[in-house]
Amino acid sequence: MFKLPLNGYDIFIGEMGAPLRELVQQGRYSKIAVLTDANTRRHCLPYFLQRIDFEVVEIEIPAGELHKNIDTCRHIWAEMMRLGLDRRSLLLNLGGGVIGDMGGFCAATYQRGIDFIQIPTTLLAQVDASVGGKLAIDFNFVKNSIGVFQNPKAVLADPVFLKTLPEDELRSGFAEVFKHALIADAPQWRELQKITSLREVGWPSLLAPSLSIKKRIVEADPTEQGIRKALNFGHTIGHAVESHSIADCGLRIAAGVPEIRNPNSQFLIPNSQLTHGEAVALGIVCESWLSWKVAGLPEVDLQEIVAFVRRFYPHYPLRVNDLSAVFDLMKKDKKNVGGRINFTLLPVIGQAVIDQFVEVGLIEESLRFYMEQRLG
Ligand SMILES: NC(=O)c1ccc[n+]([C@@H]2O[C@H](COP(=O)([O-])OP(=O)(O)OC[C@H]3O[C@@H](n4cnc5c(N)ncnc54)[C@H](O)[C@@H]3O)[C@@H](O)[C@H]2O)c1
Repeated sequence: MFKLPLNGYDIFIGEMGAPLRELVQQGRYSKIAVLTDANTRRHCLPYFLQRIDFEVVEIEIPAGELHKNIDTCRHIWAEMMRLGLDRRSLLLNLGGGVIGDMGGFCAATYQRGIDFIQIPTTLLAQVDASVGGKLAIDFNFVKNSIGVFQNPKAVLADPVFLKTLPEDELRSGFAEVFKHALIADAPQWRELQKITSLREVGWPSLLAPSLSIKKRIVEADPTEQGIRKALNFGHTIGHAVESHSIADCGLRIAAGVPEIRNPNSQFLIPNSQLTHGEAVALGIVCESWLSWKVAGLPEVDLQEIVAFVRRFYPHYPLRVNDLSAVFDLMKKDKKNVGGRINFTLLPVIGQAVIDQFVEVGLIEESLRFYMEQRLG
């Protein structure tokens, strides 16, 4: 068991049972609820139930980003009320970033805030979403536009959960792992170059260095006034493209077109939804191009980053017609100042510069650069 202390709570990396039982004993809670989605109920809840020695009530929601919205919150709050949770109750968020963000948000607002513990079950949630106290839901198809900052009582990152995670979800989390290396740890970036298949990675040994970078940055700047913005590398463009794909997918579903992801193809098909990390990987390519253009990133490093992304990520078929919608979404980004689009860029691999404002023409060029990298 590896423990990282962070701003008043601990992140435990390893088998979750012992720390969870201890935290529950210390907390003397009136009632404990566990929040799952359909997938974590099936794949993670049985393991979780075998490791606890206390009673829990269960709340289940549908899986996926499309459900990270106010309607699902209403359902969670209603269930918390129906099941009799009070201010001394505890919510255990057993799932990926959607469960962590939305469960945390519901706990932070229910009866003006009750305790919650994050038990992240995706790679993305283990290395990123569960740490740092940002809790949010999507609203009007704008990602994470309604939320709060609130720390959990603890984060329990148990690598065992990664065994049942589909490969595209591993890829999704991996984007945050290599982003952490790009912004703060050049030697770790060199290590990551050795990986050829995500299925063969020894995740327990990768979680700690990646989480340590996020911890260090979040601790220095809990409410994102300065250096925490470094974590947004790849996210300005990534979030906008992700929001666009969610809106696109939502519209298609509303029109009765089923959501499809072709399981046999490395390529995403046009009406499938991007995972968060796939969008971030796309954003990292564009923002590395911007880093080369305006922040001094050597071209050889840009090429190395592009080759790395290509090795692991399918090409997203962004169309020229999508660009104006993507720009509109980028303009709504919470990080913008005075209407200018705010970026974190890389002067070299392993270092980030924040608050870089880039003109719209260059942003568009960076997206076109991505669109030209169609080899997959
Ligand atoms: N709060 C933050 O600081 C922060 C940071 C990064 C991302 N996020 C948010 O995180 C979300 C994305 O998180 P995510 O990628 O974990 O998505 P997710 O929660 O939707 O999980 C992805 C899929 O994997 C399934 N799943 C989860 N654990 C599983 C397991 N062990 N085995 C099999 N299936 C499993 C889920 O049911 C879901 O279908 C986004 O909403 C993003 O905005 C938040």
